[in-house]
Amino acid sequence: MNVPRDAEALFGTRFHRDPAGTYRRLRREHGAVAPVRLESGLPAWCVLGYRELLRVTGAPELFSRDPRLWNRWHQVPENWSLRPYVEPRASTILTGAAEHRARGRAVREALSGVDVAGLAARLHECCDALIDRFAGRGSADLVVEYTHRIPLLVMARICGLPDGEVPMLTHDVALSGQEGDEAVGAYERTMARMRWLAAERRAEPADDLASRLAESSVGLTDAEIAADLFLVLGKAHLTTSDWMANALRLMLTDPHFAVGLAGGRNDIAHVLDEVLWADPPMQNFVGRWATRDTELGGRSIRAGDLLVLGLAAANADPAVRSRSGASTGNRAHFAYSHGEHGCPDPARELSRVIASTGVEILLDRLPDLDLAVPEEDLTWRPSMWMRGLTSLPAHFAAHR
Ligand code: HEM
Repeated sequence: MNVPRDAEALFGTRFHRDPAGTYRRLRREHGAVAPVRLESGLPAWCVLGYRELLRVTGAPELFSRDPRLWNRWHQVPENWSLRPYVEPRASTILTGAAEHRARGRAVREALSGVDVAGLAARLHECCDALIDRFAGRGSADLVVEYTHRIPLLVMARICGLPDGEVPMLTHDVALSGQEGDEAVGAYERTMARMRWLAAERRAEPADDLASRLAESSVGLTDAEIAADLFLVLGKAHLTTSDWMANALRLMLTDPHFAVGLAGGRNDIAHVLDEVLWADPPMQNFVGRWATRDTELGGRSIRAGDLLVLGLAAANADPAVRSRSGASTGNRAHFAYSHGEHGCPDPARELSRVIASTGVEILLDRLPDLDLAVPEEDLTWRPSMWMRGLTSLPAHFAAHR
């Protein structure tokens, strides 16, 4: 692919300061499909147009999820920070269309078996216990002490891990997603734990995700089950916690959404929908690879070129945003991506139950929440994938 040396960077201070501004600039200068550079200067196409993204995500035979197709692997540095997410692995998500159909079905079916009523009870228990720790203090960091803790606490139980292992798991899954030397060790520890769980449940099944994957007619190996359990935990963790935190930020900073603080269920659903349009937790996704030379949005795409799914940018495409108007009830956004590799329906449902319950319980318990710092002081994690706050300091009347 022909990407100019000065193509816009989807990394670095300028991008992180204002990703939405970057997407606007890219759209203005290049249209629906823009040449960009990722870390280490690696070239990619960023798909910003809603229609174009629909085409890319809807045609896995032409725009594959298989990273082995990439025509730039020879330029990827050993320590490239996106390598763990892009490198070919045993995971269901990183496979071509045919293999994915079977593996994806196994994960979808296993997630469909989750007992949502049981989940609600577990959620209440987790959220209340977390709030109990800071309610008497009158202040808390709602990201560090609350939203970031909930999804893994719940998902570990769903996967089949005993509660005693949750603190270590939470620590390792979070660490494995960060830059730095400890990430690989944390990833390997978690995978070893998951392989053990897969083998254990194959021998003695229980009512959990690991057992359902082990019993799947697709016939998964223990290594494949471990990879898929890790995928599920990894996918659920930051996405769902950032979704909750972005919704709380909106409620605490924008008077139009502050009404949600009264605790109304409809209001919370409205704020959560708005966030999926305006500040989706996964703002970009890497990616898809062209299986042959083709054309997209007026661009010549070469076989093996990498396409970044511009999920937040496509949501903001003036062609759809002006037509769709208010976000209430409109779920045609790209927050969960789309098509065969999009976030599976049962996962979407689970994440909505987790996010709405987490926000609802917090507002029920602490109805007078207020932001403890000026809005401009809130900082976002420097990530090209995720759109989430590093912390959300709040204060409230102390409760015993
Ligand atoms: C309980 C919480 C969640 C679980 C268990 C979960 C699970 C998954 C799984 C298994 C995949 C891989 C799909 C495949 O390749 O077949 C996936 C993909 C994805 N999920 Fe989720 N997810 C959760 C929450 C979320 C949330 C809250 C968001 C954002 C709002 C999100 C956005 C995505 C995106 C963008 C993809 C990538 C799709 C692509 O490649 O096109 N997920 N998720």
